Amino acid sequence: MIRISFITLADGREYKINAAPGQSLMEAAVAHKIPGIIGECGGVCACATCHIYLDKADMGRVAAMGPVEEDILSLLDNVRPTSRLACQIPIMEQLDGLKVYIP
Ligand code: FES
Repeated sequence: MIRISFITLADGREYKINAAPGQSLMEAAVAHKIPGIIGECGGVCACATCHIYLDKADMGRVAAMGPVEEDILSLLDNVRPTSRLACQIPIMEQLDGLKVYIP
């Protein structure tokens, strides 16, 4: 299993989960009822309710951003250089120990 920590920036709480490869970060968060990740569009990169931040050092560990994700993120007020959409990040072994921050 791959250990992922979700941290809600509103209150600083940390939620640690074990996730399986083959699902997205959004799917794993929703399955574990992590607050602040909704996944309203079902993961088709159309709603931004799975917006997250990563640590700068982790940006190269995750799948590259596609043009649709980039477009959606550009519409958000709280976008940062480390913003991603969790539905566009497949869980892989290399993500073990990843920290995910929820706006
Ligand atoms: S779940 Fe809708 S954009 Fe990620």
